[in-house]
Amino acid sequence: MVTTNKTLTNYIYELAGLVNDEELKSALIESVAASSDVINKVERFFALLPSYKWSKEELSQILSSWKATHLKMLAIYGLSCRLQRLAMATEDTATRAQLMLASSHNAETSYEDLGLDFGGETHAQLFHDLAHYLVGDFPWSLEKYCLPRASEFRGWIYQNMVVADIQTGLFTNMFSEIYNHAEYSVALGAFGNLIDQQYNLSPVEREKALQYVHVHVADETEVDHFLVVVKALNAYCEATQTPIDYELAQAQILQYLRGIGQVMEALLNLMEPQKNARELATVA
Ligand SMILES: [Fe+2]
Ligand SMILES: [Fe+2]
Repeated sequence: MVTTNKTLTNYIYELAGLVNDEELKSALIESVAASSDVINKVERFFALLPSYKWSKEELSQILSSWKATHLKMLAIYGLSCRLQRLAMATEDTATRAQLMLASSHNAETSYEDLGLDFGGETHAQLFHDLAHYLVGDFPWSLEKYCLPRASEFRGWIYQNMVVADIQTGLFTNMFSEIYNHAEYSVALGAFGNLIDQQYNLSPVEREKALQYVHVHVADETEVDHFLVVVKALNAYCEATQTPIDYELAQAQILQYLRGIGQVMEALLNLMEPQKNARELATVA
């Protein structure tokens, strides 16, 4: 597995470079530049993760909360259904075709999650495998282990994609692909180090444990997902003859990052005191 020293921001800017739409590109770059406090929290979290053998209870909170910021398959399905419903309510065949196209492109972001070309092995299953290697049979997935900020963020994503206006939904899906690509790239090294430093897994077990994170980075899965949501947005705007709302895009990206920052802060509030207490105990 290849890991690099690139930062979260490097990864996001690299992806922004693939955006042809200059206004969308600026919305992206400006929002990330204005969120350096959030980026810093994310980097602190992943730097802290491998440094201790966290208890099963602590790891359950970490895993459940981190998972709540990913795995948005149901929300993707909901947004695709909304686009299809709009298409079905339209008499004009060209408009209907554009809306169907928008729905199909949006749905493409869940192909890998559903395991379409991987014998039905879902990303939810791969996440369970990762958790299994870290906490065994401990019931990490119980809702009580998900920190309130993390379940709030999960709810916000769902509302944005299933209830709010369609552009809000598409921007949310689009930015989450960019952010996830960057985050998984950093997470791969962090979880790899956690396993190497705190666990005693065979090379085969190590590979299986890291597969969830690895599949998102290996084939640039999230990069492709981001690009198909851009196509979905263009098809939707063409069908409805509405301009892309770049101010809304920027506001959504900022809010997305703010939410991630709150989750990371809650995780750091959980982890940092434990780290300090253990360090003090070692000194004493
Ligand atoms: Fe996934
Ligand atoms: Fe994705």
